[in-house]
Amino acid sequence: MTLPNIIEAKRITLYALQKPSFDMSEKLFHEINSSRERLKEWLPWVDTIQCAEDEYSRYLIELCQTRWNAGIGFAYAIFLRNAVQILGCIEIFNISWNDKSGEIGYWLSNTAEGYGYMTEAVNALDTTAFSAELESVVIKTDKKNLRSCHVAERCGYVLEEIIHNDTWDKFHQCFRDTAIWRKYSPTRRNSLHLLLAP
Ligand SMILES: CC(C)(COP(=O)(O)OP(=O)(O)OC[C@H]1O[C@@H](n2cnc3c(N)ncnc32)[C@H](O)[C@@H]1OP(=O)(O)O)[C@@H](O)C(=O)NCCC(=O)NCCS
Repeated sequence: MTLPNIIEAKRITLYALQKPSFDMSEKLFHEINSSRERLKEWLPWVDTIQCAEDEYSRYLIELCQTRWNAGIGFAYAIFLRNAVQILGCIEIFNISWNDKSGEIGYWLSNTAEGYGYMTEAVNALDTTAFSAELESVVIKTDKKNLRSCHVAERCGYVLEEIIHNDTWDKFHQCFRDTAIWRKYSPTRRNSLHLLLAP
């Protein structure tokens, strides 16, 4: 099972980060680096990316070889339609085709925040994943990461649980509370309604 290389939404296009490309790694590095101070508050991997070569290795090994090729994770760069500047990235990963489930993670560069692009990207990606037979998608956010919580909420994800003190947050120097947000596919929602009907 796989996902398409290109996903179109109203204002944005998602391009698969499937084939390693140094040019794309440089573009991604530029956005990560210029948004580093903001991103590293919530994304622990950001400080492991110190140059375009670091991003190329991550791209080549984690995103392409490990995940795309194994069919367990699909990462996309987000572009404005018909434009060349990258707005950010979105990935569906931790995919289990047996359980029909996956998890979405994302980031936007400083200049792309506040326009609803991530809401659009999440809706486009989960709709695509549901068409590819996944039935449930989670978004895991730090409870304090309100912008990310709002994206999940706006996209129709329901807060399922909060796991208290589950990981060490190096940035804030405390244990973090992780909020688990879940959305079911229309098919699964219908069958749950039937099960719960009186
Ligand atoms: C999490 C993150 C992607 C959210 O970005 P965002 O810009 O707030 O989310 P969206 O792109 O959906 O935009 C929503 C904002 O745009 C506004 N907006 C403008 N036009 C809009 C439109 N057409 N549709 C929806 N929202 C719109 C909304 O009002 C909202 O702004 P507000 O929060 O000030 O009210 C971003 O903050 C980020 O990259 N954070 C760092 C990395 C991170 O935390 N990743 C997630 C880890 S779990």
